[in-house]
Amino acid sequence: SAKRSAGIKALTTKRAQEWKNRALLSMEDISLEDIELVLECASEMKERVLNEDESLLTIAPNKILGCIFYEPSTRTCSSFQAAMQRLGGKLISITDVQSSSVSKGETLDDTIRCLAQYCDAVCIRHPTKGAAKQAAIAAQVSKGGGKKKKEEFFLKKDNVPVINAGDGSGEHPTQVLLDLFTMFEYNERHRIDNLTMTFIDLKYRRTAHSLVPALFKFRNIKVHLVSPKFLAFPDELKNKLIEDERIKKHNNTIIESKEITQTILQTTDVMYVTRIQKERFSDSSVYEKFKGVYVIDNSLLNKCKPTMILMHPLPRVDEIATECDDNPRSKYFQQMKCGMYVRMALLALILGNH
Ligand code: CP
Repeated sequence: SAKRSAGIKALTTKRAQEWKNRALLSMEDISLEDIELVLECASEMKERVLNEDESLLTIAPNKILGCIFYEPSTRTCSSFQAAMQRLGGKLISITDVQSSSVSKGETLDDTIRCLAQYCDAVCIRHPTKGAAKQAAIAAQVSKGGGKKKKEEFFLKKDNVPVINAGDGSGEHPTQVLLDLFTMFEYNERHRIDNLTMTFIDLKYRRTAHSLVPALFKFRNIKVHLVSPKFLAFPDELKNKLIEDERIKKHNNTIIESKEITQTILQTTDVMYVTRIQKERFSDSSVYEKFKGVYVIDNSLLNKCKPTMILMHPLPRVDEIATECDDNPRSKYFQQMKCGMYVRMALLALILGNH
């Protein structure tokens, strides 16, 4: 097979230069142009990986990524590790914090200050909303620069950028970007404008909370939010979206529903199912009441358009029956692979030679 050696085109743009040493904490900091750049770069990464392009290994040699996960992860952690290694970089990985000095009472700030001495970037998952931003500030302080404002996390040569790999009920921006890439890759039109999306189960899903605002940066997006009233999308966030000027300007709409109606089945381009997160419920009896309210099976999927794609950030519990795994509409396994391409793109933009 052809082994290409030319550089990654998306990395040579002026916009790509602005990503160097940039922290990635929230989708609020990511513009439509940023999203388009990440998708373009991820497409190139995919093509190069499939083409076994060895020049990928020259993108981040001698760079070290610190991965610290205070909460369990399969996909995010392993895809960041795979991405870094596919770019020629190396890793320091703490996935069992109890085996680190965290178990001796070390604070988040001090742990990050430690990693910032050894690594060129730090990727963190933590159960507390806001922990990634706190880590980004700590990483700056470790360099003797004093406390910096949020905008100063970007474009500092001596910055140790922090990447948010999920902060409790806060955000999971790399998941949002990989979701957008999956939609771009697998919907028949290969564009995100004009999509009808249906989200199922919402209240505690940080993914949906970040993905809907990101989708609304595009045009003619229709979003159906399906959930029991108790698990509905938070009013505060919904109102913020509805009142956003861009919603009207971009002709985007939100429609709430308690059921997956025939209209939803027949018009949806992307169905996004999420796990009801047991770990976020203080009362387990409430979780027991609502789990399994909507289960996607083949009889439901087969009522959808043949081109509809079914996504799930995974892990699943029983929201999608395993019989759906072979249904051509199911793209949740491909979605995981897209995660590696997007994380390669992000690490190349933030840490790579370009
Ligand atoms: N989607 C996702 O974040 O999966 P993990 O929790 O396994 O990383």
